[in-house]
Amino acid sequence: MKFFIDTANLQQIKEAQDLGVLDGVTTNPSLMAKEGITGEPNIINHYKAICDIVDGDVSAEVISTDFDNIVREGEALAKLNDKIVVKVPMIKEGVKAIKHFSSQGIKTNCTLVFSSGQALLAAKAGATYVSPFIGRLDDVSTDGLGLIEDIRLIYDNYNYETQILAASIRHVTHIIECAKIGADVMTGPLSAILGLLKHPLTDNGLAQFLADHAKAAGK
Ligand code: E4P
Repeated sequence: MKFFIDTANLQQIKEAQDLGVLDGVTTNPSLMAKEGITGEPNIINHYKAICDIVDGDVSAEVISTDFDNIVREGEALAKLNDKIVVKVPMIKEGVKAIKHFSSQGIKTNCTLVFSSGQALLAAKAGATYVSPFIGRLDDVSTDGLGLIEDIRLIYDNYNYETQILAASIRHVTHIIECAKIGADVMTGPLSAILGLLKHPLTDNGLAQFLADHAKAAGK
């Protein structure tokens, strides 16, 4: 399973990269705004800075909603760095743009996916990644993990190469359940990634080992 971090915060991206388990980054306009990144030159420079930190794919989201401008924006983003994946919303013009990018060899991430029908369309258009938002589905009392299961089944039925990128991950259980289902990628906050480290028996066991070692050494 690939681990992407879902943030535009450079410090958090560095921390995840330093851990040695990071495969990529996803951003969106809200995450960029949260870091105070506004205006085209700053946004472009920020994507370049993220690409300098990570080894893997970096999703950069278009803000246009019509085909011509999604293509113009996406092509400019893709030229920044080979790591850039153009993130396109699941709308009619977005599907057409994903098909276009796919024919040009430009990687895409189809975002704002909330149903298996949308995921099927994204795969047919040739998206590199599809991003079902499981946390936001859970927020409205809908089974987010059930959607990952359905998409896995559909994609396996037809050997679609589109990778399932479980997005809007909120916690460790989401990551584990997505891994059990067979999501190709998960993107989540640093807290969820670091949460995987934690178990009280590990902490207690280590404290005991160190105490026993110190006692035996006469410290
Ligand atoms: C990732 O690609 C999405 O933009 C992100 O996971 C959305 O997460 P949220 O529901 O926590 O905003």
